[in-house]
Amino acid sequence: QTIYLKDYEPFGWEVEDVHLTFRLAPNTTRVISRIRFAPKPGARGPLFLHGEALKLISARIDGSDVTPEVTPQGLTVAVPGAPFTWEAEVEIDPEGNTALEGLYLSNGMYCTQCEAEGFRKITYYPDRPDVMSVFTVRVEGNELVKLSNGNPAGSGAGWAEWHDPWPKPAYLFALVAGDLRATTGQFTTASGRDVELNVWVRPGDEGKTAFALEALIKSMAWDEKVYGREYDLDVFNIVAVDDFNMGAMENKGLNIFNSSAVLASPETSTDANFERIEAIIAHEYFHNWTGNRITCRDWFQLCLKEGLTVFRDAQFTSDMRSAPVKRITDVIDLRARQFPEDQGPLAHPVRPESFQEINNFYTATVYEKGAEVIGMLKRLVGDQAYDKAVSLYFDRHDGQACTIEDWLTVFEDATGRDLSQFKRWYSQAGTPRVTVEEGFADGTYTLTLVQSLAPSATTPDPQPQVIPFAMGLLGRDGSEVVGTQVLELTEARQSFTFGGLAEQPVLSPLRGFSAPVILDYAADNAFLLAHDTDPFTRWEAARTLAKSSLLTTIRHGAAPDQGYLEGIAAVVRDAALDPAYRALMLGLPSQSELAAALHHSGDIPDPQAIYDAVKAMGRTLADHLSDDLRDIYTAHQVDGPYAPDAEQAGKRALANAMLSLLTKLDDGAQAQIQYDNATNMTEQLAALACLIRADKGEDALADFAAQWSGDRLVMDKWFSLQVLEAKPDNAAATAEDLTEHPDFNYKNPNRFRSVLGALAMHHAGFHHESGYAYGLMADWLIRLDPLNPQTTARMCTVFQTWKRYDPVRQEMIAAALDRIAAEPGLSRDTTEMITRIRQA
Ligand code: ARG
Ligand code: ZN
Repeated sequence: QTIYLKDYEPFGWEVEDVHLTFRLAPNTTRVISRIRFAPKPGARGPLFLHGEALKLISARIDGSDVTPEVTPQGLTVAVPGAPFTWEAEVEIDPEGNTALEGLYLSNGMYCTQCEAEGFRKITYYPDRPDVMSVFTVRVEGNELVKLSNGNPAGSGAGWAEWHDPWPKPAYLFALVAGDLRATTGQFTTASGRDVELNVWVRPGDEGKTAFALEALIKSMAWDEKVYGREYDLDVFNIVAVDDFNMGAMENKGLNIFNSSAVLASPETSTDANFERIEAIIAHEYFHNWTGNRITCRDWFQLCLKEGLTVFRDAQFTSDMRSAPVKRITDVIDLRARQFPEDQGPLAHPVRPESFQEINNFYTATVYEKGAEVIGMLKRLVGDQAYDKAVSLYFDRHDGQACTIEDWLTVFEDATGRDLSQFKRWYSQAGTPRVTVEEGFADGTYTLTLVQSLAPSATTPDPQPQVIPFAMGLLGRDGSEVVGTQVLELTEARQSFTFGGLAEQPVLSPLRGFSAPVILDYAADNAFLLAHDTDPFTRWEAARTLAKSSLLTTIRHGAAPDQGYLEGIAAVVRDAALDPAYRALMLGLPSQSELAAALHHSGDIPDPQAIYDAVKAMGRTLADHLSDDLRDIYTAHQVDGPYAPDAEQAGKRALANAMLSLLTKLDDGAQAQIQYDNATNMTEQLAALACLIRADKGEDALADFAAQWSGDRLVMDKWFSLQVLEAKPDNAAATAEDLTEHPDFNYKNPNRFRSVLGALAMHHAGFHHESGYAYGLMADWLIRLDPLNPQTTARMCTVFQTWKRYDPVRQEMIAAALDRIAAEPGLSRDTTEMITRIRQA
């Protein structure tokens, strides 16, 4: 059944307050609710309340027993035309809840995940984000720690009460109970509120909480300074949970995290892990204003909170670390995850207009492209106008459930701009292409930009969008003759002129990646790589050179491009540049990105040929840089104690990039030394990866497993690395063997993804001509779906690019998809995904 944005109707009642009592028991938890409803003008009964997998024990209205009509989706009951109190008692089975949605048990710990529509698995309720109410929660049980939203409101032997004064939708409800230990900190807000901060973990993990706590404090200070937003409760709790479908969840005052997104220590976490944890802590904290205080009217508006909050966490990371490095890594991620979505059968607008299962729309398009849209808006109106509009948003909409129209209106009101054309970014699916034409005559440079968007199922008749095109012009000597400007491309084709120039300038296009588009332009990349002042465009020049060299190798077997090798060598040797940036410069486009490029130019990608070309390029780079590898490696060793900051991380990134190249020349000798002497996970894991690649990984893998067998998060790395680094012929078999390992537990989403997700990330292994990986993936999706539909449906995206490949592969993938689709009782989540992908 499909739900449409256009069918939105407000709920007929106010929910004045909610009282919940939980009597915890693994298989028979009782949830007693007392909810006061008041009809809005014109409301007419009966009342429908959502409810799924609930055993109704009793129901009363104003103290009298009632007998609602119950279906698998909820209940319908006749109600008075005046305010009334609804009381219900239901029984639920947290231990049997393997879907990890609603109230469930994770390693003996009670926890909840309600977004988007999980609260209906806890009790009967109008489970929609525009119904906001004040919750009081009593938790009864023998568990040592019992948490819910808001402020503590009393506790005694076997019970604790919580009261959340801020009205909220049910998706922000949370409860946690278990044997937990807190690391406690303190924050005083700008207006003087003392806030107790806790990071709760299971016993044994206390040593991995300090970083998260610090990140939280930094986030709180940053949101005050940059957005003027203060925290609004006396306590802020974060809990680490081992079994969690996503990264984390912003429940009011009680953020629940996948343990992988919060637990950190130098010995067990890489620099990349630290950075991700810092960003997710910030993201969930920032939701307190962009999501919780101002929430979404309906789930079609998901990008209202997610796009904005991703944008805010990216700003935070740019401020805490290196802004250019953050921008480049975000673009890499956007191209890896969002572009394939936008250009394949799952394409949907940033604000979708229909869905079957909302959990399938927590996508890179809603999150990451949603954040790009905010970034474009900011670039178009300018920083000051952005601040003014956002302040107006908070003033005008605090306490409300809002829409994208509300968001754009504050920008129109604050700036006087008409944003009706800009709004197409929210309604049109697909990645626009921008082509560039240039002319030069009489000292005037003419730049013509042409935009186009391919029609898709959701956007059959695309219209021109507003594309902020940041650019600069460079002189032949490398000087900047026109500094960064933002051109506003609004027409399908539009020209811009720059006069008074002595010579034909060199265009530095799409600086900072100012719009999520594909640029079709034969730039002078060697020149830009050597001279561009914009760090993004300079990096992009290296990337583009690498890409065209690789594509030439794949198509014609040619050797890597000499211009690229020389340009990149100069950058890598340039000690004046940030080591993190130099490491990024050395990165090659992913094999999947190369496959997409081949497909777009009308070729059929051969995954093995792509793999071979990338390996050959690595080998050539190593030879080309052979005189420098050791020196740069040595010069970027960090002495002194480990710090997870950008400076040290950059050095380790460059040193590890050197090690990876060195391994191609020394057969793993240096990697073995680094492995044996590593004092942190960044060094240990990088060395292990090099050893596996050099076919020298056997002992180190065994040693690693022996060292870390007690640490689930580190063992996830051990599982995934073996798959990622396997030879293409062997990737599926490696994954299959690992699924038979005694520590493989497919019910744990992190472990499931560490093997099956890694297999899908191994481009040449997943798309091996045998088709074995497709079948293995289908087997596991079929097996997981009855237990955990959300994680299964998400994993189905591994097939979204299937139309890129040759007819034989397509046939094998179609067979895998059809086999999944034919499974009796397949979940709504997975059915929707398979249907959309298969229809391509
Ligand atoms: N709102 C959460 C976040 O972005 C994501 C939760 C999504 N969970 C889900 N089951 N759909 O931080
Ligand atoms: Zn979020």
